[in-house]
Amino acid sequence: MNRTMPAHILIVDDEAAMRSNLREVLQSEGYRVSEAAGGREALDGLEEAAPDLVMLDLRMPDLDGMEVLSTLNEQHPDLPVIMLTAHGTSEASIRAMKLGAYDYVEKPFELEELLIITQRALDYSRMLHQNRDLRSRMNQEEELSEELVGGSSRMRDIFKMVGKVADTDTSVLLEGESGTGKEMIADALQSHSRRVDKPYIKVNCGALPESLLESELFGHEAGSFTGAGGQRKGRFELADTGTLFLDEIDAMTPALQVKLLRVLQKQQFERIGGEKTLDVDVRIIAASNRHLETEVREGRFRQDLYYRLNVIYLHIPPLRDHPEDIPDLAAHFLKKFHPGKNAMISGRAMQRLMEYHWPGNIRELENVIQRGLVLSYSEVITVDHLPSYLQPLEDEEAQADIAAPDGEGIPLKKLLADYEKKLIRRALDETEWNRTRTARLLGINRRQLFSKMKRYGLDRGRS
Ligand SMILES: Nc1ncnc2c1ncn2[C@@H]1O[C@H](COP(=O)(O)OP(=O)(O)OP(=O)(O)O)[C@@H](O)[C@H]1O
Ligand SMILES: [Mg+2]
Repeated sequence: MNRTMPAHILIVDDEAAMRSNLREVLQSEGYRVSEAAGGREALDGLEEAAPDLVMLDLRMPDLDGMEVLSTLNEQHPDLPVIMLTAHGTSEASIRAMKLGAYDYVEKPFELEELLIITQRALDYSRMLHQNRDLRSRMNQEEELSEELVGGSSRMRDIFKMVGKVADTDTSVLLEGESGTGKEMIADALQSHSRRVDKPYIKVNCGALPESLLESELFGHEAGSFTGAGGQRKGRFELADTGTLFLDEIDAMTPALQVKLLRVLQKQQFERIGGEKTLDVDVRIIAASNRHLETEVREGRFRQDLYYRLNVIYLHIPPLRDHPEDIPDLAAHFLKKFHPGKNAMISGRAMQRLMEYHWPGNIRELENVIQRGLVLSYSEVITVDHLPSYLQPLEDEEAQADIAAPDGEGIPLKKLLADYEKKLIRRALDETEWNRTRTARLLGINRRQLFSKMKRYGLDRGRS
């Protein structure tokens, strides 16, 4: 669906009067409208008309609405269909929903209701489309190298350090909570090193049980253990002359720690079940979610191995320790998921992002932005598009507003009215003054919205 064009609605009904009534209402709401006088006509002209939504009468002489619905649902599963059914035919309504209708409206219908359902159906299908766009774009982008963001002094220090040590062959230990960007830093170290054109191999030590991890790292000779099959090269061999990234190194068992230490000391190892000693030249970058020094102190990690890995140590701070990077990171993710568009985050939503403690760190922020883009229709992420745990409590909102003017002696009624006016204005801004959507956002009907707008003097020109 093209967002800059008004949505296109196809009305399918055998009654001419019904069609023209609906057309009039929908056009006055800014929709584009076309008509079909029967089911056949609708299906035949569908490719060409390419509507964003279909309003479909249930009872038509040539082709029954249900049949049209089931064909539509098969051929265009994403196209929302609203069924127009006669009052009291619950049986038909249920069947319609089962056949994949988005919703149904009973004749004679309330205009209000029809318009709200229409908008909701359009929002829903737009969300489906955006989701699909996002997904396909993300798959394409996986290959592209990513840019590290962060202007805070803490992040700048890290980037400087990356620049300094990248071109050496020393081991680097990256420590930080989940989602802080350890793997991205490892990638940056590799891509700025003189081994950039050499193999870059990653192993997640936390993802495999000990025996599999061992054969993954060192390889094995044919038939060396049950299920081993033929000879297989390990990651160390594959990484020869290049870089090996050992992720979640803290998960490695003591027995494997010994073997790893030996490889690091001698740059030599044997495949499992093999006699021949192989020489390797591998640069190690290791990452840990846990504080390795503590692991050493408590006897879970070998001290000698720790010293080997910890030639250069980089602590990647949790996001809550550098919230000043959140706006840049957010802007980066908006661009990543909506390239070429001017997607934005409202001031209030940004405030919430800055206040939150981000247990999942940058990865969690990335997910929140991605989700927000999917849920926002206007390419502006507002607090309504944030996960519920990030939404302000009603109290907080009200307090923020009460605290704003010098709050002394303002009668409650006036306070509430001011607050209501602010809420309505904000909702209007968010929907670009689309009243149907504003009413829906606020949970009131359009008549109520109009009367409140009038009372508070809210019109587009003035406010
Ligand atoms: N400085 C940054 N700039 C931009 N994006 C970042 C930055 N740091 C992390 N990210 C993004 O955050 C997500 C998590 O990063 P990454 O996988 O490197 O974290 P991690 O520390 O390895 O996490 P885990 O411990 O859970 O494996 C990634 O999608 C990455 O693109
Ligand atoms: Mg990681």
